[in-house]
Amino acid sequence: MNDFSDISLSRRNLLIAGALSATTTAVPLMAAEEQGSTPPPTRTKFSLTVNGKPQTLDVDTRTTLLDALREHMHLTGTKKGCDHGQCGACTVHVNGRRINSCLTLAVMHDGDKITTIEGLGTPNQLHPMQAAFVKHDGYQCGYCTPGQICSAVAALDEIRQGIPSHVSADINAQPLLNEAELRERMSGNICRCGAYSNIIDAITEVAGRTA
Ligand code: FES
Ligand code: FES
Repeated sequence: MNDFSDISLSRRNLLIAGALSATTTAVPLMAAEEQGSTPPPTRTKFSLTVNGKPQTLDVDTRTTLLDALREHMHLTGTKKGCDHGQCGACTVHVNGRRINSCLTLAVMHDGDKITTIEGLGTPNQLHPMQAAFVKHDGYQCGYCTPGQICSAVAALDEIRQGIPSHVSADINAQPLLNEAELRERMSGNICRCGAYSNIIDAITEVAGRTA
């Protein structure tokens, strides 16, 4: 015949033993953390070219390309808006293609060629897209503007290379040079000031000159 009081006691003892065991495991771990003995983040050294200049970085492997540009290379023209791939403020060119630099790790770009807003033009010699943004007032606060300009330059390159967008693919699989096409291609770049019409005017002017 089963003695249920014994079973109950055994179960209680088991729980107590488990709790003690967990405590004895957790205490040394907590002590190790308090002593700062958790493993250090992994660093790595790699090289890339930024705005035509070779750069060697030695950074935490978790560093995004955006943070590497801003915090390690002090190229603060590239902006951090959302840090989640939703606003486009961090757009740069990697080997000629636009990307959100907040969504990629710097170490993944060993050997790559990066162009930021600082590499597109200079104050004395603006890139045609920069000049068009100034002419058409394509900004208000300016926070989104470096990303908008990098994105616009790459968008026109994509059209020239015949890379279709959703709009052009829906119509005839050929890239088009019209407002709907440009708006679609720029849809990853958000402007909280709502300067969209002027931005499109600026891009349209450059597109008309260079198409
Ligand atoms: S900061 Fe990268 S998309 Fe917003
Ligand atoms: S100009 Fe202010 S967010 Fe675009």
